[in-house]
Amino acid sequence: MSQHTIRIFDTTLRDGEQSPGCSMTIHEKVRLAQQLDRLGVDIIEAGFPAASEGDAKAVQAIAANCSRPVIAALARANCEDIRRAGVSLEPARRSRIHTFIATSDIHLQFKLRRSREEVLEQACLAVEFARTLADEVEFSPEDATRTDPDFLCQVVREIIAAGATVVNIPDTVGYTIPTEMHRLVSRLFEKVDNIGEATISVHCHNDLGLAVANSIAAIEAGARQVECTINGIGERAGNASLEEMVMALRVRQDALPFTTNINSTHLFPTSQLLTEITGIQVQPNKAIVGRNAFAHEAGIHQDGMLKNRLTYEIMTPESVGVPETKLVLGKHSGRHALRSHFERLGYQFSTFETDRLYRKFTDLADVKKEITDADLIALVQEFHQQTKLSA
Ligand code: KIV
Ligand code: ZN
Repeated sequence: MSQHTIRIFDTTLRDGEQSPGCSMTIHEKVRLAQQLDRLGVDIIEAGFPAASEGDAKAVQAIAANCSRPVIAALARANCEDIRRAGVSLEPARRSRIHTFIATSDIHLQFKLRRSREEVLEQACLAVEFARTLADEVEFSPEDATRTDPDFLCQVVREIIAAGATVVNIPDTVGYTIPTEMHRLVSRLFEKVDNIGEATISVHCHNDLGLAVANSIAAIEAGARQVECTINGIGERAGNASLEEMVMALRVRQDALPFTTNINSTHLFPTSQLLTEITGIQVQPNKAIVGRNAFAHEAGIHQDGMLKNRLTYEIMTPESVGVPETKLVLGKHSGRHALRSHFERLGYQFSTFETDRLYRKFTDLADVKKEITDADLIALVQEFHQQTKLSA
């Protein structure tokens, strides 16, 4: 992998699932993981096996059904969590255990009631054990951005020596700002002598709306992996949004000379799939995937757009998979057309499923002249609801 490729670590199925109302069944998680695979993410964090039996099974099912990306499982820095993560990851072609423990004084004093020395020793033992169970080991010093920077450098040095292949710097409470994040990552590169033996990653929460900006600042300082989620879902205000990260790097190539392995035309269909699965709508003005992200309302803007799209458009809707023109499907359309429209929206159905959907579609086409993308998505949502009820 070239020095300028940024690895995209998707945690929609783990941190994202921690958003209220976003829990998913195993079947839904596998569907989403397969879409993330098509999208081109490098690593899928599939779950936290010690959290529940369902999570353990979901990690196992995703590991068995997605062979291209690395499959990661989260584990606290203790033997039992790590052992469970290792077992769940057994079917993976390439596995990663992601283990973590808090390192900030506030977490040590009030949550863990441990000394810095004790936490450091536990972190190193966890990494050493995880190395025996997975191809790759990622370590996160939780609340890194509020950790004493000298202690953080010591932790990073020692866990790399213990065998961590990826070191992730989480802004767990979404507290940092871009200049500070840049300084922190630069300091790690200056002070940690063995830093070249691991990939540096960041995991930014969005409590101040700065998750993407902080992640970009970390990349500019040398981070080569970013952790993010589809639609920016995640604990509290969420995580860095994957679609915003990817498109910021793509659109601003002039200032940010980095690439990703993401096929950006799958961004919108992936966002839609997540919305369909969780029922949580994206805010209309959400960058890249919101309903209004490519809508031009003001007369002056429309006039400019008609003369030259570049006047008001920094990327095309097609480049992120947003259908540019309104869908024209009517009652004379056949199954083939219907199927191809579903595929464009990111859905894949068997012949049997297409037949059932086609009947629903013709019923609707009888009462509605023009069938829009929104109608098709509603049709699919209703279909999945009914399939769930009759299962
Ligand atoms: O926000 C956080 O600190 C996390 C860690 C487990 C990486 O989600
Ligand atoms: Zn997190």
